[in-house]
Amino acid sequence: MLVRPRRNRLSPQMRGLVRETSLSPDRFIYPMFVQEGEAQRTPISSMPGQARLSVDLLVETAAQAFALGVPGVALFPALSDDLKDPRGTESTNSQGLLQRAVRALKAALPSLLVITDVALDPYSSDGHDGVLLDGRIDNDITVPILAQMAVAQARAGADIVAPSDMMDGRVGAIRSALDAAGFNQVGICAYCVKYASAFYGPFREALDSAPRGGDKKTYQMDPANVREALREVRLDEAEGADWLMVKPGLPYADVLRHVRDLTALPVASYQVSGEYAMLKAAAQNGWLDYDKSILETLLCLRRAGADIIFTYAAIEAAKLLA
Ligand code: PBG
Repeated sequence: MLVRPRRNRLSPQMRGLVRETSLSPDRFIYPMFVQEGEAQRTPISSMPGQARLSVDLLVETAAQAFALGVPGVALFPALSDDLKDPRGTESTNSQGLLQRAVRALKAALPSLLVITDVALDPYSSDGHDGVLLDGRIDNDITVPILAQMAVAQARAGADIVAPSDMMDGRVGAIRSALDAAGFNQVGICAYCVKYASAFYGPFREALDSAPRGGDKKTYQMDPANVREALREVRLDEAEGADWLMVKPGLPYADVLRHVRDLTALPVASYQVSGEYAMLKAAAQNGWLDYDKSILETLLCLRRAGADIIFTYAAIEAAKLLA
């Protein structure tokens, strides 16, 4: 007798019944770039369809995402050079761009989850996630700044703060600072396993936040390593993270699976700017069907173990899934 796995694939109905993984917008977070001004939309050339938005348009676009079933957004501010300094002082300004954007979003859309990025790079004149001192990134000078930044974001109304800096000990320091300031309901999405990846290129164009010297390899992880990721997972869990993230997405699907199997916490995957750019570029050349391939990548991330997916395609995919 021939064993026939194809019987379970005979019709859409049959395939639906045996499908192991589902994809729905309620798992998406939409990363957005915010800039100064009013009615301003500055397209990002390496990310077709994405733009830096002034606060008014940010609110409009977030409302569109929310109406399509996307529960949250992740915010990244694009600052002019005159606001950047070596210690990222602007990051704790209660009237700063990011804090104003958070307040506007929460006022217009109280149920939208607003996730803010905790790292120095958008605010740093050196373009690094930590403080550069004598040619090195100083971990212990950076951590208290990150903790203050997180509190400033919580005060503006952030639901979840997301340290993406990869300094040692920052999750615990942020948790303590949030609790001490009365924000014990504000969660932490730890960019726990973040690799030093070439796939962040378009993002750095969007924010003009590329390192002005050197690279990020002394704090972001070596793409060759996975045991090291498991070590980061244990630390961030112990320090009080609510979600753990693996970043980038698809090239690190194996890491995602390892992390999913190790922790009881929700695991997020970040489908980063370069992954989005690759699909858009191929589609613009007529080499790939964008709609089909973007949904496939998102499904694959879910299958690999992602509970939550940060994706620039959140709105497009939500429309396709509607
Ligand atoms: C920086 C940060 C980066 C991204 C999110 N937060 C870039 C970097 O580490 O240089 C990348 C996201 C993307 O490429 O979409 N703290």
